[in-house]
Amino acid sequence: MFGAALLCFYPYLLSLFPCSNSYDLVRDYSGPSFFNGWDFYGSWDNLTLGDVWWLDYASAIQQNLAYVNEHNRVIIKVDNVTTVPFNEKRNSIRITSQNSYGVGSLWIIDLTHLPHGCSVWPAFWSKGPHWPDNGEIDIIEGVNLMDTNQYALHTLPGCSQPRGVWQTGASGETDCSQPSGCVVSERSPSSFGETFAAAGGGVWAAQFDVAGIFIWFWSRADLPPSILQATATSSIDISGWGPPSASYPASGCDICRFFTAQHLVIDITLCGIWAGLPAVYNPHCLHSGSTGRCYDDNVVGPGSPKYDSAYFEINYVRAYTTGGPAPTSTPSSTLVNPSSISTALSLPAPTNTSFFPTIFVNTSLNPVIGGVDIMSCQFSFWPW
Ligand SMILES: *[C@@H]1O[C@H](CO)[C@@H](O)[C@H](O)[C@H]1NC(C)=O
Ligand SMILES: *[C@@H]1O[C@H](CO)[C@@H](O)[C@H](O)[C@H]1NC(C)=O
Ligand SMILES: *[C@@H]1O[C@H](CO)[C@@H](O)[C@H](O)[C@H]1NC(C)=O
Ligand SMILES: *[C@@H]1O[C@H](CO)[C@@H](O)[C@H](O)[C@H]1NC(C)=O
Repeated sequence: MFGAALLCFYPYLLSLFPCSNSYDLVRDYSGPSFFNGWDFYGSWDNLTLGDVWWLDYASAIQQNLAYVNEHNRVIIKVDNVTTVPFNEKRNSIRITSQNSYGVGSLWIIDLTHLPHGCSVWPAFWSKGPHWPDNGEIDIIEGVNLMDTNQYALHTLPGCSQPRGVWQTGASGETDCSQPSGCVVSERSPSSFGETFAAAGGGVWAAQFDVAGIFIWFWSRADLPPSILQATATSSIDISGWGPPSASYPASGCDICRFFTAQHLVIDITLCGIWAGLPAVYNPHCLHSGSTGRCYDDNVVGPGSPKYDSAYFEINYVRAYTTGGPAPTSTPSSTLVNPSSISTALSLPAPTNTSFFPTIFVNTSLNPVIGGVDIMSCQFSFWPW
């Protein structure tokens, strides 16, 4: 917590800026109301060219691919009941949050099971309205029999991960405009696949800040007190979180230029342009069927037992914000509760930066949106 610790204890700045590592809850998605806040895709996977049909809401509910189980956990799954004929696709789910969350947000997801298996490609990620112009943040993503999670950003050219950042993960490609995005591999062995559920699941947190984008992972046994004590209404203090798994500091990527407010997405596809590429599929899955082809050996035919493990089991998704902003249904602005004076908010971030970003909140009531715009991107500055 080097950056935040400095932010709090550096006496000169302390006198200028309020010290806060606390995020206020904006929205809790959990239990029976979970699916109220999301749109279902209702089309085949025309984005990553997977062999699935992502159902609309009514079909998803009717076919039991999106529901809340007896433990009050949300299940999002691939159809493992239907025998799929050759040339047809298998049903699955892709949902997008109706709200978008601007710079200054924190998202936390707590799960007990992740989809896995040959051909299976799940993700929990975020995106702006235009791709890749408005940025993409991949928080949970993996394919086939991978046993560690992979993080990435996708942007237009000009955004990259600097060398030697403060993180526990292993950096791969650093240019976020490359097809893979700028990639960081999680090192925790229980971060994907069977071992994730065997360890009781875990929690990811993604901080989307002018100072950068930072993602943490904890397996169930390693959860910090702040996560253990968090409720569906409480604020959360991130100051004890230690180094992130993946760090994309603003020194390599002007966050406000490459990212607009983000919608959250949860989806599972099958095969497609990552899981189904022979170079990716073959090493672990070539011999999982008789043809060696992702589609023929998996998607076609009976769904069980091949897809019995292809499901998310989610305790909650929570969205937080610094300084009280609320989400918007339009991607371009963020709201805060009106108050009478202008405030400079300091944003805690786990970066080793020699100076600190601030955002300025325009606290005049906006008559159109009934709230107040945060001028984070217009007014934020970096002194180097
Ligand atoms: C994918 O399909 C949806 C729904 O039919 C459509 O709105 C969208 O434009 C399509 N996207 C692409 C990239 O073809
Ligand atoms: C589908 O998978 C679930 C576990 O995810 C399992 O309980 C169920 O029996 C499977 N369905 C069939 C038809 O085998
Ligand atoms: C912080 O970053 C600066 C510049 O990159 C470097 O010189 C300094 O050693 C770093 N400090 C720590 C504690 O990592
Ligand atoms: C602050 O917000 C008000 C209401 O939306 C707007 O009229 C005003 O121009 C804004 N001020 C700045 C500095 O952007």
